[in-house]
Amino acid sequence: MPRSEPVVKGFAPVAQEHFQPMKFLISPSSGLAGQLQVAGDKSISHRAVIFGAIANGTTRVSQILQGEDVLATMAAFRAMGINIIRVGGDPADNDYEIQGKGLYGLRPPGLSLDMGNSGTALRLLTGLLSAQPWSSRLSGDASLNQRPMGRIIDPLRLMGANIASAQGNPPVQINPVGRLKGIRYTTPMASAQVKSALLLAGMYADGITSVTEPTTTRDHTERMLAGFGYAVEIEGRTVSIKGGGELTARQLTVPADLSSAAFFILAALITPDSELVLKKVGVNPSRDGVLTILKRMGAQIELVNPSRAGGEPVADIVAKTSELTGCDVCGDDIARAIDEIPVIAVAAACARGITRIADAQELRVKESDRIHSMVHGLKALGVRVEEQADGMIIAGGKLTEGRVHSFDDHRIVMAFSMAGAAASGPVEVLDCNNVATSFPDFHQLASRSGINIVVN
Ligand code: S3P
Repeated sequence: MPRSEPVVKGFAPVAQEHFQPMKFLISPSSGLAGQLQVAGDKSISHRAVIFGAIANGTTRVSQILQGEDVLATMAAFRAMGINIIRVGGDPADNDYEIQGKGLYGLRPPGLSLDMGNSGTALRLLTGLLSAQPWSSRLSGDASLNQRPMGRIIDPLRLMGANIASAQGNPPVQINPVGRLKGIRYTTPMASAQVKSALLLAGMYADGITSVTEPTTTRDHTERMLAGFGYAVEIEGRTVSIKGGGELTARQLTVPADLSSAAFFILAALITPDSELVLKKVGVNPSRDGVLTILKRMGAQIELVNPSRAGGEPVADIVAKTSELTGCDVCGDDIARAIDEIPVIAVAAACARGITRIADAQELRVKESDRIHSMVHGLKALGVRVEEQADGMIIAGGKLTEGRVHSFDDHRIVMAFSMAGAAASGPVEVLDCNNVATSFPDFHQLASRSGINIVVN
């Protein structure tokens, strides 16, 4: 993309000369205690903005995540003519009104849309925008511009979309076509982003669009479609949608993000004398693999006060200091815990015995190559770990002090910050600015829970 091209950004760009890489220094903790509510679920927040924007009427969303990824999605829809207004008396409620304009109410942004670090935003919007009667261009930051888009572009082209990208990476240029046509598609990899992009395009296509997955991935899109009154049919691992329907505005509350809560659950498990309650966390069964795997390792985790929010199951999660034992993590485990493998890897490093993580090659194309990032960081903290093409083998023991590179990846920062609570000496984590993509108040909540964290 030419440098001079105007760009819509989701948050104020930081001038290069003012950019201060942030570091976290975490000292061993004497125990975590109390009750915390982590920020709203990132996946659900993106979808609330997207579906709210193309629904008929005004959708009201509470507890929407204020992370940079979701702010990028909001900025993109504002550029496409949608009013998204912060409402409500208490800013802590994160209440928003999204004044939807229906399936055909978006207008051309006239600018390239910069989705920052967010793969979810870029991929879901590619599906939606491929069905619009005007051109658009989507790009991201240096990391996002290296992530694969062929997995989205190939099936959308089968639907008739006109999308160009250099070497299958962002930026993507989307040009208008007549109507898309429905397809039956089997995804080569387990990806909720691919499934969701095709379902979004499928709402605009002639006939039925069916997506079959190798293993079930998070079903937030299907739940939200149903919540907005759009029929989806689910049969085993196949989801089908018929083009030509409509979405009706609704009210919803976003559950607290299990992917963010998982870091605090981990810290409570591996730090002596800890008991922590995570409030109102989304526990969608297509997404709760981290709880299953940690329990398999012997974790004391209990779900209490079950309820519902935004069409999703929610519960308070109680986590206590636990004796963990290594285990195998593979097959269907991976899709259900795709963002929590860094948490599992730190738990494994504190467990007795060997943990084998396999079938996780998708981790190579996340915000960083998470297999490499975790192996690198664990070695820096004295762990015996072997990198594999599709995972890693971790010999549990004790974490030592050390300095860890985050590879500019929010989940690597947070996983190693929690490792610091249980290590034998201070852990320094470099390049921590990226936590703002998914969990802007991470270090404040970490401090409140009993983690000794200093921000430099
Ligand atoms: C997401 C799906 C997952 C996950 C990402 C959020 C979503 O990606 O890693 O953080 O909101 O649909 P894939 O579906 O590509 O595995």
